[in-house]
Amino acid sequence: MELRGCAAIVTGGSGGLGQRICRALALNGVDVVVSYAESEAKAKGVAEEVARLGVRALALKADVTDPAAVQAMVDRTQAEFGRIDILVNDAAFNKEVPYPDLDSLTHELWNHILATNLTGTFNCIKAVAPVMRAQKRGRIVNISSGAGLLPRGSSIAYAVSKAGMIHLTKCMAVALAPHVTVNSIAPGFMEGTRMSANWNKGHAATVVERSLLKRTVDKDDVAEQLITFCRSESVTGQTLLMDSGRV
Ligand SMILES: NC(=O)c1ccc[n+]([C@@H]2O[C@H](COP(=O)([O-])OP(=O)(O)OC[C@H]3O[C@@H](n4cnc5c(N)ncnc54)[C@H](OP(=O)(O)O)[C@@H]3O)[C@@H](O)[C@H]2O)c1
Repeated sequence: MELRGCAAIVTGGSGGLGQRICRALALNGVDVVVSYAESEAKAKGVAEEVARLGVRALALKADVTDPAAVQAMVDRTQAEFGRIDILVNDAAFNKEVPYPDLDSLTHELWNHILATNLTGTFNCIKAVAPVMRAQKRGRIVNISSGAGLLPRGSSIAYAVSKAGMIHLTKCMAVALAPHVTVNSIAPGFMEGTRMSANWNKGHAATVVERSLLKRTVDKDDVAEQLITFCRSESVTGQTLLMDSGRV
C-alpha cells in the first residue's frame, strides 16, 4: 500500500514504543492520531513533533477499554482526516507479578490487563472495521509480545493477553479479508519505556546475555517492521517475533 497521504490511529501513541511508531509513520507521509489514556502532555508533545515532519497530527484521548470512547476517537479521526487507513494497537498495561505468586495476581489485576491489552484491541478493530471495509483498504498491526508465544513476561495475565492478541490477529485477518490485512509484531524486551521500567533492574542485562544478538530490542527497528507490514500487499494473519534471537 502506498503510505503517503494515508491516515493512522496509534493507540498508546504517547508511550515509549508508540511515539517511535508515530514518528516512523509521519516520516512516510502518514497523518497520525496520537491516542492516549492519561498522558495528555506527552501525547500533545508527540503530535507536535510529528506535525513538524510535515503531516497532520492530532492527540486524542481514548481509553481503549471503553467502546464509546474508542468510537468517538474513530469518528473524530474521520471528521479530521476523512479516512482511516492504518490502525496500530500498541496501548497496553502491565505489572510485574512472578508466575508462582498467584495470590498477587488478583481478579482485579487479571481483568484490567485482559481488558486493556486484549479487549481494548478488539474494541479498536471493531470500531475501524466499517471504515476500512467501506474504503476497501486498511492495515491493522497489533503489538503483541514474545510473552504471547512462551510462558514468560511480566505476569501470567500479560502473557495470556498477548497470546490472545496473536490469535485475534489471525481471526481478524480472516474476518477483514480481502481488503484489510491484520498482522502482529511480538517484540522482546525494549528499554526506555514506562512498561520496561516496571521490570527489575537486572532484567535488561539478563536479556542481553541470553540473546544471540547480545542486545535488547530496538524500538525503531520495531517501528520500521510495522511500516513494512503496512506496505505489504501479500501478508496477513502473521506474527513476527523480534527478540534479538532470544527464543
Ligand atoms: N517495553 C517492552 O519491553 C515490551 C516488550 C514486548 C511488548 N511490548 C508491548 O509494546 C507496546 C508498547 O509498550 P511500551 O513499552 O511502549 O509501554 P509504555 O511506554 O508504558 O506505553 C503504554 C501506552 O499504552 C497506553 N495505555 C495504557 N492503558 C491504556 C488504556 N486503557 N487506553 C488507552 N491507552 C492506554 C499509555 O497511555 P497513557 O500514558 O496515556 O496511559 C501509553 O501510551 C505494548 O503493547 C507492550 O505490551 C513492550
